[in-house]
Parts: sequence; structure tokens; C-alpha cells
Amino acid sequence: MTLHIIIGAQWGDEGKGRIVDHYAARAQVTARFNGGDNAGHTVTVGERIFKLHLIPSGIIHPHVTAVMGNGMVVNPRTLLEEMDSLMAAGVPVSPQRLRISHAAHLITPAHQALDKAQEAARGKGNIGTTGRGIGPAYTDKSARRGLRMGDMLAGDFRERIADHIEDANRTLAMLDAPILDPGPVCDEYRKYSEFLKDHIADISVELDGALKAGKTILAEGAQGSLLDIDFGTYPFVTSSNTVAPGALTGLGLGLDAARQARVTGVVKAFQTRVGSGPFPTELGGDLALRLRGSGSNPWDEYGATTGRPRRVGWLDGVLLRYSARINGLSELVITKLDILSGLESLRICTAYRRDKKHFIDLPFGPADLAPYEPVYEELPGWEEDVSGVRRWKDLPKAAKHYIEQIAKLAGVPVKLVSVGPERKQVLEI
Ligand code: GDP
Ligand code: IMO
Ligand code: MG
Repeated sequence: MTLHIIIGAQWGDEGKGRIVDHYAARAQVTARFNGGDNAGHTVTVGERIFKLHLIPSGIIHPHVTAVMGNGMVVNPRTLLEEMDSLMAAGVPVSPQRLRISHAAHLITPAHQALDKAQEAARGKGNIGTTGRGIGPAYTDKSARRGLRMGDMLAGDFRERIADHIEDANRTLAMLDAPILDPGPVCDEYRKYSEFLKDHIADISVELDGALKAGKTILAEGAQGSLLDIDFGTYPFVTSSNTVAPGALTGLGLGLDAARQARVTGVVKAFQTRVGSGPFPTELGGDLALRLRGSGSNPWDEYGATTGRPRRVGWLDGVLLRYSARINGLSELVITKLDILSGLESLRICTAYRRDKKHFIDLPFGPADLAPYEPVYEELPGWEEDVSGVRRWKDLPKAAKHYIEQIAKLAGVPVKLVSVGPERKQVLEI
């Protein structure tokens, strides 16, 4: 039995979807364990570009079963849109292929309205959320008043959703935000329950069965480790556990499954972040424009969910080392190496400085990074376009050195390097 957990080691958008697609060729199941449609995972297959927000990226492979775990928060409207667009692109999404945990929580229009109203109330100190209702849905889960996928099948679902909207309306009114009419929401969600009922299951049992049958499960993380609710740059984080251990609680797997788990951390060759919060190695000016791209390529640094330009900077080795520890990474995958071609020299942050002292580990995690200044190592760049390279030995010497330095800083070996968004643009080490 094999559980292979694939998580983002930075602030999200590391290329997880693309890497899950790579490993899904040899897996039987892919499962999302956290977050909701705040995620945007891109898979490129020739001319076709799939942007997945809720459905695990492995679905593109016809032999793979996709599972949405109890750790997720699910907006059924987005889910049905995504199912429709996949089916229109020739990817079947039958109840046999897409399984949804009965214990995953529902996102409603009230959660979305609350997310936006709360962000507006935060003013300048806002988090820069995706506005998808993620925080309010997890708030209801923790407050033990959430609605779950399984509730959609119950006879009193209509009353329960009406109560939820009335309840949320009281908070919306306090925030001076428009309130919602429960009637249309109840009708809409009743309709969704009809479409989704055959997908809803106890996925914990099904995944346990898959492992016992010797199948490989790919657990696909959403967001990144530095956005984790406990271990990220709090409060500028998302509302779920994005780190690898979240795959267990978010899928209903026990420690048995973890014993032989393989844990891959996906790392972009430079650092990016969307939304507010600390970013010690952030760049501005021409270099930032160069790393971000103009938006003319599909892989340029603009959010797959919100279209916002991503903040960009040099790779942060201190945060990567931290990420390797809290996830228990067994290996790294480096993406977007091709973007660095043509830069004369590169920098990696190897330590932080505070009051003349150097830190390679953070005394209190990454929440308060403001007092620290990054210490950089300068490395030679390379001119060559590497997007056509398929073997480690064919990479320019400087590119190999750059990757070796990343592995050294993280204390974790690099297994795969991605040099473009397409399936064939990877090289195994
Ligand atoms: P995710 O959220 O971690 O799945 O990542 P996103 O899909 O949000 O963002 C990654 C972007 O980079 C997507 O447009 C990918 O197609 C693209 N991408 C992934 N790996 C590579 C790579 O090695 N090179 C280039 N140029 N683009 C890549
Ligand atoms: P993928 O899975 C990058 C960020 C938002 C914001 C913070 C909180 O594609 O890597 P939320 O809506 O979750 O309450 O927003 O988290 N964020 C992401 N950033 N990639 C993501 O997902 C993200 N999902 C949320 O920008 O700063
Ligand atoms: Mg993304």
C-alpha cells in the first residue's frame, strides 16, 4: 500500500496540479484533503489547459478515481461548473470516478458574502483572501454549526440551510453588508443535492480499501505550507491545514497509512505569494517584472483563481528548510526552472539576520518575519533555454549547482525538475 502526499512547500501555486498529473499516470486514486475553490491547479496536456479548483488533478487520467476529502470545504455551484467543463472537454466525471466525502463542509453564498464583508471591514490590514467563502465555512465547521455534504441527503436540509442563511444574515447586517433571501438559496441547494447525491460516500472506508488492495493514493495538497492555519505566516494564511499530516485527518486515514508514506514538496524555483503578508525576499522593479512575466504566457505569475498578479522574489531557503521539517518531506520537486534562464546571477536566501545574529531556523516560526533581514548567497546564472532538456546531465552546470544548493538548504533530495508546463517537460534525477 502506498500513500504519496504531494504538497506545496511555499505560499501556493508551486505547480502542484502539474506534478500530481505527472505521478497520476502511475497511481489509481488522487484525493484532495484540504481547502476549496480558493485553489487553482493547472494541468497542461498539449494544447489543452485544465484549471481545477475543487476536483483532484488526477481526474484527467481516465484510469484514476478522484476523491474529495472531509477536510475540504465545497461550493457545489463551482463543483458542478467544474464537472460540466471537464465533461465538455471529454473527461468523464461519473459518480464512480468522483467520490465526495459526506463529511466535507458546504460553502454557501452566505459564506462568500461574509468573506467579502469581513475583508472590507479589515480595510488596509486585509488578508487578501480569494473571496470564495473559505474562512467563514471553516469558522462554521469549528463552531459546530456547519452544513456537510451528507446533510444534503437529509429530509430537513431545506430548513437547515434556511436557518444557516438567517443566522449569517445577522452577522452580515452587523457588517453593513446586504443580506440574502433564503428562499432562492434553498431551491438552488436542493437542486445541487439531486445532482451530487450519488457521488457522496464515506471516502475514509473507500480509501482504506484502496490501500489494502495495494493501490497508490496520491494526496493532493492545496495552497502551500506557509499558508497553513497553524504553521503559516499567521494571520496571513488560509483556514485549513495545508501541510502533509493534514492528508491523514483530511481523508480519514490512520497512522498506518502514514508509516510508508512518501511526501513530496513541490517548490517553485523562485518565491511567489498572492495576497497580503510578510515576504522577506520579495523583489520589485524590473527583476520582479521579469520573473512574473507580462501575462502573455499561460504560466506567467497571475493567479489561476483570481487573476491577481503574484508577488515574486528570490527563493527563501530558510522558509524551505522550515517547510521540509513541518511536512517531513522525503523529496523535492523543483518547478519553473526554465523561467530563470537568461538571468546573469541568482540569489538564494540562506539565513536571516537580526541584531547582527544569523538564523537558519526561525525561533518562533514564520508569523513575525518583519524584524529579520534575508542573507543571500549569490550564484551564477545560465544563458541556455532549458525547456527542451530531458536529462539531468544535459542541464547547464550553473542550473545543476542551483538545484543542488536548494537540496542542501532543505536537507532533502530533489527527485524531479520541471522545465515547462507540459507533460513531457520533466526530468528525473
Ligand atoms: P498549483 O496551484 O500549485 O497547482 O500551481 P498553479 O497551477 O496555480 O500555477 C503554476 C503555473 O505554472 C501553471 O500555469 C502551470 O502550468 C505552470 N507551470 C508548472 N510547472 C512549470 C514549469 O516547470 N515551467 C513553466 N514555465 N510553467 C510551469
Ligand atoms: P493553490 O492550491 C496561492 C491565499 C490567498 C490569501 C490567503 C487566504 O492554487 O496553490 P483564502 O481565500 O484561502 O481565505 O485566502 O491564501 N491563497 C492562495 N495563494 N495559491 C492558492 O491555492 C491559494 N489559496 C489561497 O491569496 O492570501
Ligand atoms: Mg494555484
